[in-house]
Amino acid sequence: MDKLQITGGEALKGSIRISGAKNSALPILAASLLTENPVTIGNIPHLHDITTMVELLGCMGGNVVVDEKLELEIDCGSLHSRTAPYELVKTMRASILVLGPMLARHGVANVSFPGGCAIGSRPVDLHLRGLEQMGAKVQIEDGYIKATSDGRLKGAHILMDTVTVGGTENLMMAAALADGTTIIENAAREPEVTDLANCINAWGGDVQGAGTDTITINGVEKMPGGYFRVMPDRIETGTYLVAAAATGGSVTVKDTDPSTLEAVLLKLEEAGADITCGEDWIELDMHGKRPKAVSLKTAPYPGFPTDMQAQFTAMNAVAEGVGMVTETIFENRLIQTHELNRMGAKISLEGHTAMVTGVERLKGAPVMASDLRASASLVIAGLVADGATLVDRIYHIDRGYECIEEKMQQLGANIRRIG
Ligand code: UD1
Repeated sequence: MDKLQITGGEALKGSIRISGAKNSALPILAASLLTENPVTIGNIPHLHDITTMVELLGCMGGNVVVDEKLELEIDCGSLHSRTAPYELVKTMRASILVLGPMLARHGVANVSFPGGCAIGSRPVDLHLRGLEQMGAKVQIEDGYIKATSDGRLKGAHILMDTVTVGGTENLMMAAALADGTTIIENAAREPEVTDLANCINAWGGDVQGAGTDTITINGVEKMPGGYFRVMPDRIETGTYLVAAAATGGSVTVKDTDPSTLEAVLLKLEEAGADITCGEDWIELDMHGKRPKAVSLKTAPYPGFPTDMQAQFTAMNAVAEGVGMVTETIFENRLIQTHELNRMGAKISLEGHTAMVTGVERLKGAPVMASDLRASASLVIAGLVADGATLVDRIYHIDRGYECIEEKMQQLGANIRRIG
């Protein structure tokens, strides 16, 4: 099993390009089920989760080819199966995103019920309840969600109890082909939701209000398909910026969208970073200084993203002062703090809050990644540790970071993949 070996001590310097957003590309791939015509998707990151989603579309009869510009051409015109099998869903929870579009276009969808995962229980009740409000019949049988609809789904007024990104996306896709208008209230405002809405519109749907908490979807009978380019990955962007800040470095990230990172950039400035932004780039300079600890609390967008919490916790571990980090979205997402403590961090947990007392330096150690963002935090810790750190189970990292060791090397990090 691959591992990453990191020798700490280098301040990150230089520039890198940011890839397309995983969390936008996944729902957009699922949205290709909405049309019988071929679609083309640009800026798809080369990641394990993307391969899994492509495999899922393929096993249902979708035809996916990579063209000469490395864009994906997807044709879901003639599917032979309506089932997302357990073998694929168990490796990637985002598989649940095929439920809405499949049901909307074919009147039937079977998706293996996704279980919990390392970061928490992660229910899908709100996805299912919304589909029922649109007239679907939903049953759980043999570990599968079996959804059917008698003719087209019907537009509905849906109030989401909790802000859910995947739930909003699934229902938005289902509503795109429904009969009538659907209003989703308390919708997720994440930029990836807006990107999906823009994609549905580019392919012939009619979604209004994405980016606000009320989304209106006027169902259309058919979507003609077309082209869409995925937005830049704001979490990948943030991860490299935090890594640079933790090491006292100075980096430029290109091909990104600073407007999607406000909460993160504010916290980096609070940590002592000088930040300059252009239209599609961000420059961060710590002027060689040690970061100052920052306190934060995760919240739905535009609040501080839960997907950036672990990386800031790692930065706080070597910062000056004490940072209080509170996780409000996923119950087990502070789990990586135990691995950080094995590297000499001083982190104590009380409920959903981690009290992080910065130390001058961490010490390299063999550590184990438990989930995607936790593994990014261990890489950051390795960069600021004395000696060698060996990060095991990096298949988690490969789910969400394109060529992490090459990009880190480009910034001067001493990191390599070993088999
Ligand atoms: C998405 C992101 C994930 C990010 C999360 C932040 C993708 C592929 N993943 O995950 O990286 O960390 O948003 O919000 O885009 N909930 C319910 N019932 C539901 C659905 C969710 O109670 O039916 C709860 C969850 O337990 C959690 C909260 O809502 O506490 C947010 O979850 P949600 O936004 O749905 O996360 P995902 O869409 O799975």
